[in-house]
Amino acid sequence: MITDRPPVWMGEHALHALEQWMAKHAGAHQLYILGDENTLAQCLPELLARVPSLRGAGNIQVRAGERSKDLEVCRAIWLHLAEQHADRQAVLVNLGGGVITDLGGFVAATYKRGIRFIHVPTTVMGMVDAAIGGKAAIDLGGVKNLVGSFADPVATCIHPPFLRTLGKREVLNGIAEMIKHGLVLDADHWNQVRRAPLHDLQVLAPLIERSASIKAQVVGTDPRDQGLRKLLNFGHTIGHALEAFALESPQRTLLHGEAVAIGMVCATWLSWRTGSLDRDRMNAVEEHLMGLFPAFGFEASDHHRILELMRNDKKISGGEFRFTLLTGIGSAQVDVPINAVQVAEALEHYRLLLPDVHLRHHPQA
Ligand SMILES: NC(=O)c1ccc[n+]([C@@H]2O[C@H](COP(=O)([O-])OP(=O)(O)OC[C@H]3O[C@@H](n4cnc5c(N)ncnc54)[C@H](O)[C@@H]3O)[C@@H](O)[C@H]2O)c1
Ligand SMILES: [Zn+2]
Repeated sequence: MITDRPPVWMGEHALHALEQWMAKHAGAHQLYILGDENTLAQCLPELLARVPSLRGAGNIQVRAGERSKDLEVCRAIWLHLAEQHADRQAVLVNLGGGVITDLGGFVAATYKRGIRFIHVPTTVMGMVDAAIGGKAAIDLGGVKNLVGSFADPVATCIHPPFLRTLGKREVLNGIAEMIKHGLVLDADHWNQVRRAPLHDLQVLAPLIERSASIKAQVVGTDPRDQGLRKLLNFGHTIGHALEAFALESPQRTLLHGEAVAIGMVCATWLSWRTGSLDRDRMNAVEEHLMGLFPAFGFEASDHHRILELMRNDKKISGGEFRFTLLTGIGSAQVDVPINAVQVAEALEHYRLLLPDVHLRHHPQA
């Protein structure tokens, strides 16, 4: 069943659509723009130039980074809105990456039982993933996304030129999710993304829009995350655990997309190992991901801890993990039972693909 979903405005008229909506629905009401120091500096001037209705809006700035998905930050924003006498007709525009859209979505969905909000994502991750799908959350007690709700924006407005100032590593972070979209649902998309020069926004923009559409379509058939949406978990079962594992050793950082890329290498191998994907396709996926994303080294003795972190994650039933695995390029199946031994084998497979750093640093004469 396809339910009514909020529009995703894309293409060169996306900001124009935002202006039109603002002029029609928000003119007389209080307007606020939430961002972090980077998005307010880099993206706000262009937003105001192209969406004049927002020029009178109040700016709310939080610190860049995951740590702003925090209850104290919410509290400060709620109190600020209350001091400004923001009423239920107020509109919040969330201008930023996934941190801002997750935080702003949650703050707006709860302030006075919910005010209208619009997502204007400024990272690839935001455009193809975080700003679409109606999930909003903050972190609590060290647990990511512990508190939140399903809350739909009025619309999501995707304007890829905002990405001009985004760093390379952040671009690649979002590309991981685009690769995922191709692998589980759209072979053409996979082929285009893997061949695209990723620094070229002209080439990237339509691919970002394609990925955003794929996400919107999947969410439209499964808005409450009960079935089809599990396809989007591809690479995330192991990916989430690796993200948590990296946090335990502060000298190494691993962005979400980088962790998912490793998770996809492992899950692709498991797809081959369990007989649902042939070897050539597995090799092609693996080769591309290994070439694109930085190596993340860990020891065989770490498998145990990574498995433990996977068990703490929610997607486990009856002692076995449930994986989304590929059945081809552009197709996947969900809920495939995979046991701990198979997971350890997959992690070991990834480890063996890494260049041997030790040997390279000590070349034999
Ligand atoms: N709700 C969902 O469905 C969903 C899906 C995926 C991710 N998320 C959440 O998204 C968050 C990660 O989002 P993210 O990867 O976009 O990170 P982010 O929001 O932290 O942005 C990354 C960095 O880029 C900077 N930045 C953003 N736009 C910029 C621009 N145009 N120019 C220069 N700098 C810019 C930010 O200030 C920040 O320092 C996580 O909290 C994750 O849980 C949510
Ligand atoms: Zn993800």
